[in-house]
Order: sequence, then C-alpha cells, then structure tokens
Amino acid sequence: MTYKINLQPSDESFTAGPEESVLEAALRHGLNLPHSCRGGSCLSCRARILAGKVDYPRGLPAALTEVDASQGFALLCQARAMTDLQVEARPMEVPGNARIRRLPCRVQRLERLSEDVMGMYLKLPGFEPFEYLAGQYVDILLSNGRRRSFSIASPPFDSELLELHVRRVAGGHFTEHVFEKMKERALLRLEGPLGQFYLREDEQRPLIMMAGGTGYAPIKAILRQAFKDGFAPPIHFYWGARGSADLYDRQTVEAWTSERFAFVPVLSEPSAQDKWDGRTGFVHRAVLEDFPELSGFDVYAAGPPAMIEATREEFRAAGLPVERLFFDSFDYAADRED
Ligand SMILES: Cc1cc2nc3c(=O)[nH]c(=O)nc-3n(C[C@H](O)[C@H](O)[C@H](O)COP(=O)(O)OP(=O)(O)OC[C@H]3O[C@@H](n4cnc5c(N)ncnc54)[C@H](O)[C@@H]3O)c2cc1C
Ligand code: FES
Repeated sequence: MTYKINLQPSDESFTAGPEESVLEAALRHGLNLPHSCRGGSCLSCRARILAGKVDYPRGLPAALTEVDASQGFALLCQARAMTDLQVEARPMEVPGNARIRRLPCRVQRLERLSEDVMGMYLKLPGFEPFEYLAGQYVDILLSNGRRRSFSIASPPFDSELLELHVRRVAGGHFTEHVFEKMKERALLRLEGPLGQFYLREDEQRPLIMMAGGTGYAPIKAILRQAFKDGFAPPIHFYWGARGSADLYDRQTVEAWTSERFAFVPVLSEPSAQDKWDGRTGFVHRAVLEDFPELSGFDVYAAGPPAMIEATREEFRAAGLPVERLFFDSFDYAADRED
C-alpha cells in the first residue's frame, strides 16, 4: 500500500509507504525537503498538511505542540501518511548537481582521532563522482531499514576519500561496532548527500561558526572549502568540547588563524590535567559574551540537539534573525524495523 504525496505550491508528487516517514519518502525520490535532525526535535521539517491524514507510530513528537498539530502542522521526519496527502512544503534548491543516491563504499582507513572519536575514510565507487556541498551529510544504511547520519568532514575538492568523524556513543549500535569490531576494508552502504547545512552562495556577512564535539566535522569541510574559494568576510569559529582532548583537530584549526579567521576553543568540563587557561562554559554562551548583539552576523552551528536548541532561543534574543541561523542538529536515529 502506498500513498500519493502532493507538494504545494510546486505541485510535485511522490509516493510514500506506510513504514516510512513522509520526509524519508521525499528524500528517496530526490526531493530535498527542509530537515536537519530527523529525530523530531529541531522543527526544521515542520509543514502544514493541507489535505489527508498523518499518524505518529511513536506518539506525537515532543517538539510538536498540541496546538500546532490541531492547526494541521506536522513534523515530516516523524509523520507517516495514513491517506493520500497534500502538503505545503518547498523542496530546497541545493546548488550544484548534488543528487541523492545510494552507493556501496569501502572503509579505506580508520584512524583514532581521540579517545572517543574515530576518523573513518570511505572510498566510493569510481564510476561517477559523488557530488555534494561542503557541510552536507550521509546516512550509513544498516540492516532492517536502520540508518545512521554522519557529516562529511572533507570538502568536495578533496573527496577522493570521504572523511567522517564518528563519536562513540555508549551502547550505540553502530558507533560501538565501529570502535570494537570494524576493520579496514569493511563494506558499507550509504545514502547521500543529505541536508541543507552548507555555506549559502550569496553569503557576504561576517560569520560565526559554532561546533559542539563532532559538530566540527561539517564545519571543517565548510571552512576548508571557503578558504580554497577565497571567501572574504571574517569568520569567528567557536569549538566547544568537554576536555582539551576532545578538541581532536585543534592544531589544524589553529594553523588556519589569520586576520580573517579567529578560533576560540571553549571547554565545558576542563580537568586539572587539561591545565586550561582558555574559555570555559557552554560554547554558545562564549559567543554571546563576545557578541551580545548578533543582528549583523550569519551563524552556522552544528552539534548536539541541546546546544542547537539553546542557540536558537538565545541567539534570537540577541537579535539574530531566524533565517540567518543555519544548523545541523546531531540527533540520533529513531530506529525502525521494516
Ligand atoms: C544530520 C546529522 C549529522 C550527524 N553527524 C554526525 C557526525 O558527523 N559525527 C557524529 O559523531 N555524530 C553525528 N551525528 C549523530 C549520529 O548520527 C549518532 O550519534 C549515531 O547515529 C549514533 O548511532 P549508534 O547506532 O551508535 O547509536 P544508537 O544505537 O542509535 O543509540 C543508542 C542510544 O544512545 C543514545 N544516543 C545515540 N546517539 C546519541 C547522540 N548523538 N547524542 C546523545 N545520545 C545519543 C540514545 O539514547 C540512543 O537511544 C549526526 C546526526 C545527524 C542527525
Ligand atoms: S524535527 Fe524533523 S528534521 Fe528535526
């Protein structure tokens, strides 16, 4: 049984099965509807259902208020079609030729970047280049329809191997496997490129970039691409982590500092061993201490959902227009068996 999903105002249509979210079905058809966390927490995929009925097999997502739901809004990353649907949602025009594809790949190299971050370098089949924008991510496809999202840390101009930074999640199905069992030359399948976290083409304002932990991965790709392209506006990059060992690529970033690029590492839980005399606390608060007025900036942020949520609220209060905050919220997958 499949349902027809019609998008308005573009009038594009695709089909969705009962076991997939409306967003998954759209991505499968190459329609890049707005999204980020895909876990029901960031609201990026909020859209109005103009006709038809959706359901949430795991209950109403916490981020969707009853009022929103009663007014016909849905979170497309969680909603399943119960009937044919008409949905008000605009597919994002991703510049370039990036087309969402499913591809086999080989783990060419595994390199421990820190105690709990693994650098994973993937080799893709050579018959057709894998086109993407710096900052986008891929889903590693596992068995039973499960998938795990990881940002691409290497920029398109250096993409012979796709670099991923995989943080170990205690008890995590996939990441524990990466740390405990995975061997170089292992075969995987991925889907991508996904997401809308990339440097906007018309970007001319000074930038604040902010990463929490492995949120550094997409920002690394964006920065390397921006430096190569001669991006002119000043960039202030804040990287937050618990201890200094968690700033696993700090030397690389420090080597980039210049008149146009400032780097501010921020530790939330420095230990005595860290011998840290730098900034401490929440990374988004460090930004606000330095820039209490944000109306003149564009902000690109990637990392844990709690950091993104706090950033959205507090940066807006500091004058950042909602549409000038670009983010990737590193939620974890809501697994499904199918
Ligand atoms: C767009 C996007 C990009 C991402 N990019 C990266 C990246 O570049 N590098 C990276 O390390 N991670 C990234 N993530 C997060 C990553 O996808 C998850 O950490 C990963 O899927 C965990 O897989 P797992 O099978 O090990 O854990 P699971 O088996 O899925 O999780 C087991 C349990 O651990 C907890 N858990 C899982 N993941 C997290 C988490 N991230 N934070 C807190 N608790 C968690 C949950 O309680 C969960 O039920 C990204 C996520 C998204 C949505
Ligand atoms: S809430 Fe759906 S993508 Fe984040």
